Amino acid sequence: MPALTYEPLDPATVNDPYPALAALREQSPVHWHDGMSSWLVTRYADCVAVLRDHTVFARDRRRTGTTVPAASLSVQSLDPPDQAGVRSLFMNALRAQDLPALEARARTRAAALLAEVDRRPTFDVMAEFAAPLSLSVVCDLLGVAEPLLAEFASASDAIMRSMDGGLEGARIEPGRRAREELTALVTSWFAETGRPSGLLTHVRTHTPPGAGEAEELFVRNTARVMFQGGYSTMTAALGNALHTLAARPEAQERLRREPQVVPGAAEELVRFDGPVQGTSRTATRDTTVGGIPIPAADTVVLLFAAANRDPAQFPAPHQLLLDRRHNRHLGYGWGTHSCIGTRAAQACLRAALDALRTHPTPLRPTGPARRQPSATMRTFACLPVTLRP
Ligand code: HEM
Repeated sequence: MPALTYEPLDPATVNDPYPALAALREQSPVHWHDGMSSWLVTRYADCVAVLRDHTVFARDRRRTGTTVPAASLSVQSLDPPDQAGVRSLFMNALRAQDLPALEARARTRAAALLAEVDRRPTFDVMAEFAAPLSLSVVCDLLGVAEPLLAEFASASDAIMRSMDGGLEGARIEPGRRAREELTALVTSWFAETGRPSGLLTHVRTHTPPGAGEAEELFVRNTARVMFQGGYSTMTAALGNALHTLAARPEAQERLRREPQVVPGAAEELVRFDGPVQGTSRTATRDTTVGGIPIPAADTVVLLFAAANRDPAQFPAPHQLLLDRRHNRHLGYGWGTHSCIGTRAAQACLRAALDALRTHPTPLRPTGPARRQPSATMRTFACLPVTLRP
């Protein structure tokens, strides 16, 4: 049985976190981690119980006396009731979009990206497929012009890396500067009034007329999260999915033979090796999780990656089952902070799978792949593959 240690930035864990997470879930499912000064929660049922109870478990750290910079106040960092207005504004804006049309455009874009690289002995999934596809889908959804990928990607990476600021303090300041940079870009989008369609136009035209400065700040910051968070999570999800499939020719073959499994496969790939490893909440009073006492003001880290492989919830959890039934995984979170972009993300994943399964040749790894040294976002820095026969 593997030792009971979980060092998320350790190269072996970055490469394959699942044995360490399984050991935690089996031996100490609610586990105090000194380095992270947090309780690690690894069972599916315990993660859901915490996410369900937002009165006791706060996302908004101001509720436990921590100062949160104004630039970080968004749908992601507020709790109900403060969160309700901005969350429903963006959810309604998403519902108003024509997602089947977005999916069709994503499929065309995905096929074109594959056609550009399919003669090469090797290409990088991340730089040449996942990142450009994600950027175009997210910009299409928001209804904004695509910024240059090379310029935007470094700011996005700095924000993604700053999510591990609790483990490595040096990541915080570059993340703060990158947030400022992207807030300026998003503010310029809000100043443009001419765009006829897209999610941001819906948000701009449906923001209540009497909204004060604070609400307008939440809206702009949330638009930034949709843009940058949507792009980086989507890129990571596509990379992880294609990595899983490249290693499994039989799964690719099944997608070719049975197109009806594509929607379920898009879900299962997120459960199997999703990009968001977990989230955190802070106890607003003394409480318990899984029978373990949690004192007020302590942080709990809910490890979705562990919960998504919990055998109590998922039969054969370490197997990729493209037609898995009752797949209520936590890859998109749960409850009041669950992913707002889920339907768009699934559309993009299906589009990528469709482009892949209709391509004449299958995807094969050419290696070596390299993971990003990141604890919160599971993603690749470089993922070399080929489509050559
Ligand atoms: C496959 C791709 C994606 C995955 C796996 C994913 C996953 C997640 C997860 C797990 C959360 C909850 C985090 C928490 O509880 O702390 C989340 C939140 C969020 N996601 Fe996604 N996401 C994806 C793509 C997107 C896209 C494309 C967008 C927007 C275009 C988006 C927008 C958001 C927003 C705004 C939130 C914050 C919601 C809130 O806190 O109320 N996501 N996502």
